[in-house]
Amino acid sequence: MLVLFFIILFHGSLTLASDPDPVFDFCLPNETSAGSSHSSCKNSSLARVEDFIFSGIKFPGKFNGSGFSSTAVNSKVFPGLNTLGMSLVRADFDVGGVNVPHFHPRATEVAVVLEGKVYSGFVDTNNQIFAKVIEKGEVMVFPRGLVHFQMNVGEIPATIIGSFDSQNPGLMKIPTAVFGSGIEEELLEKAFGLSPKELAKLKKRHAPH
Ligand SMILES: *[C@@H]1O[C@H](CO)[C@@H](O)[C@H](O)[C@H]1NC(C)=O
Ligand SMILES: *[C@@H]1O[C@H](CO)[C@@H](O)[C@H](O)[C@H]1NC(C)=O
Ligand SMILES: *[C@@H]1O[C@H](CO)[C@@H](O)[C@H](O)[C@H]1NC(C)=O
Repeated sequence: MLVLFFIILFHGSLTLASDPDPVFDFCLPNETSAGSSHSSCKNSSLARVEDFIFSGIKFPGKFNGSGFSSTAVNSKVFPGLNTLGMSLVRADFDVGGVNVPHFHPRATEVAVVLEGKVYSGFVDTNNQIFAKVIEKGEVMVFPRGLVHFQMNVGEIPATIIGSFDSQNPGLMKIPTAVFGSGIEEELLEKAFGLSPKELAKLKKRHAPH
């Protein structure tokens, strides 16, 4: 029985899905070790300073139709973060640009406004809203799993850096999850009181890309 428990415990530790408490200084994933998402660590003597530097958010991304661009800096794009339980996002907003309501299932986010004036907020599980315009230098926290959103209400482009207490916070955009995921049309029409034409428009707009 005890043996079984330890087998489950140690086997389980390989497939555990929460951010772990690191037991090494760092763990650069060994990409060549068998295909699971939880690869083993590279021998640390092979680590280079470049493994701990990510240069992909020096510049804003391209704005799309919503005047928004974001670049996630998570363990997928920056393996140096692996096992460290943190990550970042850079978000840029054109004037009037919108970050649609979304949530991160695995992390609380602390977002600092680097530039601009941003209407910023979240909704709790009682559907109570907490929203306000915050400015350059101000910080807002979005508690884990709660729906939040932002819009640039200033006269210049805005930039935000969000930091997460997970190496892989996950991102669910409400419009895409609802209208872009392939949920049966009849259900969506009934749930949102939409005509087929209105629904078609929303589906087109929020198709995943
Ligand atoms: C990566 O894993 C493979 C298979 O387990 C091992 O042979 C190899 O030495 C590892 N590479 C490094 C850099 O640790
Ligand atoms: C890591 O590499 C160093 C230097 O090549 C070697 O001495 C050491 O035994 C390796 N450690 C492991 C766990 O493979
Ligand atoms: C613009 O991009 C953001 C983030 O990449 C996305 O959430 C949004 O749905 C996009 N909007 C349009 C209209 O393409």
